[in-house]
Amino acid sequence: MPLMNTVQMFKDAYEGKYAIGAFNVNNMEIIQGIVSAAKKEDSALILQVSAGARKYANPIYLRKLVEAAIEETDLPIALHLDHGDSFELCKQCIDDGFTSVMIDGSALPFEENIRLTKQVVEYAKERGVSVEAELGKLAGVEDEVNVSAEDATYTDPDQAVEFVERTGVDSLAIAIGTSHGAYKFSGEPKLDFARLEKISNLLPMYPLVLHGASSVIPEYVELCNKYGGEIPGAKGVPEEMLRKAATFGVCKINVDTDLRMAMTAAIREVLATQPSEFDPRKYLAPGRANIEKIVQHKIRNVFGCNGSALKLK
Ligand code: G3H
Ligand code: 13P
Ligand code: ZN
Repeated sequence: MPLMNTVQMFKDAYEGKYAIGAFNVNNMEIIQGIVSAAKKEDSALILQVSAGARKYANPIYLRKLVEAAIEETDLPIALHLDHGDSFELCKQCIDDGFTSVMIDGSALPFEENIRLTKQVVEYAKERGVSVEAELGKLAGVEDEVNVSAEDATYTDPDQAVEFVERTGVDSLAIAIGTSHGAYKFSGEPKLDFARLEKISNLLPMYPLVLHGASSVIPEYVELCNKYGGEIPGAKGVPEEMLRKAATFGVCKINVDTDLRMAMTAAIREVLATQPSEFDPRKYLAPGRANIEKIVQHKIRNVFGCNGSALKLK
């Protein structure tokens, strides 16, 4: 089957009260690990590419690898631009064959975010591509996005309704307390579920998106710490909170940090315990296996999207 957009995926997810996993991809082993897990669980997938991943891998390589994954598995897969920051970048990805794009105007004033999002929606809709936008700001650090905790503001429910009505955007990423990276909470993990419920009630049947949703798995933090520089104080979103979010209209849950840690833990272990090893396959294969394991766990035990591929074929 060809690459698909996220419209039907989210409709099914909303009705079934589960979320589709959206996993960041940067190279072949990451794609293979994720896809192999999804295949085992008959799950639909969103594979997402950030601006940093495009720069790192060259977008053609990632697209061709995703096409290879479809050819091999026949899974329903959406190829999505993560955190697009301009109309030009979204247009480029749409023209390149992406089936879904995110326009992240969350750092802009409300009216400018609306104007930019509308521009992308108009271009994308005509080409059958779905669009995600963001309202409210997440704290955290990535290559291309850096928002300090003080600047992070949660999504206003009434503004969310106005934003969706005026832009016609297909899905909306909201800020309710998650953040990007390995340090999501300094104290107890806490998400604003009252706010999520309010947004969800005001936007019935509408798919919401949760960014910064890695759980920061202690097993991998410990392995990374054991075999390399420490990652002290890392703390993620508890899995039961993600499961609960999926019952309040969250249809897409983004994960990158957990994949990075799972892969790095395996690579560090091989290089530390077999210091004379220099065949990249000897450490990349265990990295890929860890990615498969963590993704399968999330699909089956956390997001509940196992079996979601069957309806979409
Ligand atoms: O939220 C963004 C992802 O974690 C991508 O990070 O910009 O370093 O590729 P990146
Ligand atoms: P994490 O850093 O929690 O994995 O979030 C990833 C993300 O939101 C990608 O857009
Ligand atoms: Zn994100």
